[in-house]
Amino acid sequence: MTEANHRQTDKPVDTLFLERWSPRAYDGMPMPEADLMTVLDAARWAPSASNNQPWRFVYGIHGTEAFNRLANLLVDGNRRWAEKAGALVFVVSVNRTGAPGEETRRPIPTHSFDAGAAWMALALQARMLGYFAHGMAGVKQDEIPAALGFNEDMKMEAAIAIGRLGDPEALPEDLRSRETPSQRRPLSELAFEGRF
Ligand SMILES: Cc1cc2nc3c(=O)[nH]c(=O)nc-3n(C[C@H](O)[C@H](O)[C@H](O)COP(=O)(O)O)c2cc1C
Repeated sequence: MTEANHRQTDKPVDTLFLERWSPRAYDGMPMPEADLMTVLDAARWAPSASNNQPWRFVYGIHGTEAFNRLANLLVDGNRRWAEKAGALVFVVSVNRTGAPGEETRRPIPTHSFDAGAAWMALALQARMLGYFAHGMAGVKQDEIPAALGFNEDMKMEAAIAIGRLGDPEALPEDLRSRETPSQRRPLSELAFEGRF
């Protein structure tokens, strides 16, 4: 049994998993670069098929031109709260080994799965440093490849807002009422012995 952050489970999972959640109320303060590099480094240590490490990160710290460029690539529904994050990170995956043009290149079928593992490592390291990471699929997919200089192998996976908690009262009313940790389906609906 573990209880934390208005969440409860009957298994003895570490409280870290319950304490990670996705708030929208950030404090608008720049994230120190050393802390951002630490969370990106945690992501780098994620496992991946054949150790291909197909994740790439484009980041910007609050108050910089890079941050503004990334914030402009979020859909309005995300931008309105995420622009108060301390940093934005765009997680990109590469779907082939080697560099474009090399002959011995192979596809990486697990590129998105691997990038997902990196995001979770980032999110948990962020929480351990007192930050909160919030993933966002709501990005301007059509504009991103040109704006960020993608090569032909790159796929946009998700953006991440990272920062310290701000005052939920400062959120627009519709977001304020949703600013609470969510629950989960029971394990019995998700895990099956041997087959479905
Ligand atoms: C890949 C991914 C994309 C998401 N996209 C968005 C998004 O565009 N906007 C948003 O407000 N939340 C987004 N979320 C946050 C989820 O809604 C949230 O993780 C989920 O409701 C579970 O809540 P929790 O993270 O607080 O435990 C996204 C999360 C992930 C992992």
